[in-house]
Amino acid sequence: MAAATVPPLKISVLHYQPDGDPVDPVVHDVQNALLSLGHAPKLLAVHERVHDLLTELEKQQPDLVFNVCETFADDYRLEVNVAAVLELARVRFTGSGTAGLLLAQDKILTKRLLEYHEVLTPNFLTFDGEAFEAFGRMNFPLIVKPARSDASIGIGQHSVVNDWDELTKRVRDIRKNLNDEALAEEFIDGREVYVGVIGTPQRPEILPVVELDWGNWDPNVPRVSDRLVKFGDIGDDHPYIFIATDVSPELQARIERSALLAYRALKIRDYARVDFRISAKGEPFVLEVNPNPYLEKDSELAMAAEHRGLSYTDLIEAIIDSAATRYGLHVKPEKPTTGETPATETTRPRSERVPESRA
Ligand SMILES: Nc1ncnc2c1ncn2[C@@H]1O[C@H](COP(=O)(O)OP(=O)(O)O)[C@@H](O)[C@H]1O
Ligand SMILES: [Mg+2]
Repeated sequence: MAAATVPPLKISVLHYQPDGDPVDPVVHDVQNALLSLGHAPKLLAVHERVHDLLTELEKQQPDLVFNVCETFADDYRLEVNVAAVLELARVRFTGSGTAGLLLAQDKILTKRLLEYHEVLTPNFLTFDGEAFEAFGRMNFPLIVKPARSDASIGIGQHSVVNDWDELTKRVRDIRKNLNDEALAEEFIDGREVYVGVIGTPQRPEILPVVELDWGNWDPNVPRVSDRLVKFGDIGDDHPYIFIATDVSPELQARIERSALLAYRALKIRDYARVDFRISAKGEPFVLEVNPNPYLEKDSELAMAAEHRGLSYTDLIEAIIDSAATRYGLHVKPEKPTTGETPATETTRPRSERVPESRA
């Protein structure tokens, strides 16, 4: 059993739970890890009523919310709003606040910020009605995605287009069917890798690079990690993830630099996963940044952590430590030097009474 680095905390594991759906395995993974760290976890399920969230928070009075809630009322874009409610309720929670969630959710905004920080990201086009704006020189094929997609919603082989006609059609489909702006990027036909980052923005740790093996992928079909790749059955020939071995020191350094700059530029907190494609020339292009990435035991992040020597429980502890540092939930209460008693956890420092989104 790993030792808790913070005193036992009352932690609410906040998760999305539509009626009748099975509980996502990540919920119990996190709960068990919290138990073995000596904390006191409770589950806090939300579906589509804000009122339920507030009532439960009131009832549970957690020291910290462990936030694995990625959707609200069937809309993954409302992940940001859930964090906003936590900020308004002035509860402490793990993971990114509204700022990070909002910046990373909008892939166009993300790319503009990355470019500003000189982080390589594929050249792209944005669309405003029928007009478009180009950022960099573009060569077909392009991949067209909803600007605020998640978990490959609206992304598949059909997203890769070879001419203007196909491009226009996809842009219209995205607007009509997903009610979103489209983003067209140069399609980088190369290795796909995922890089976990954990910790405070000042001292984050970059985890080993995880790569997607495409299994028995038809060479005539563009390689796009669609919903089937992400969530489909794992058969022998199904794509799978592994710890990348074939990464030169130069590529490793470039990946780490980009991951770190992206983490900071997007105001990410505690943990994230940065998705990359490596071009034929060996250049790492950031596709997107995922704040609060999936944390299940088989996830890319957990696999990378394990390779670094961090067990799943250690990973959860690192996330809590990072949040604890932000909130001043002190690691092992310090001994008073002048006879004063140290502040108890219920006395919040003044700095915490303002919503985190201002951070
Ligand atoms: N510019 C690109 N070049 C090559 N493949 C891409 C590109 N953008 C997206 N993809 C493919 O589509 C998948 C999903 O895209 P991504 O931007 O990560 O959205 P999501 O938020 O849905 O994960 C990626 O994992 C990758 O396989
Ligand atoms: Mg992705």
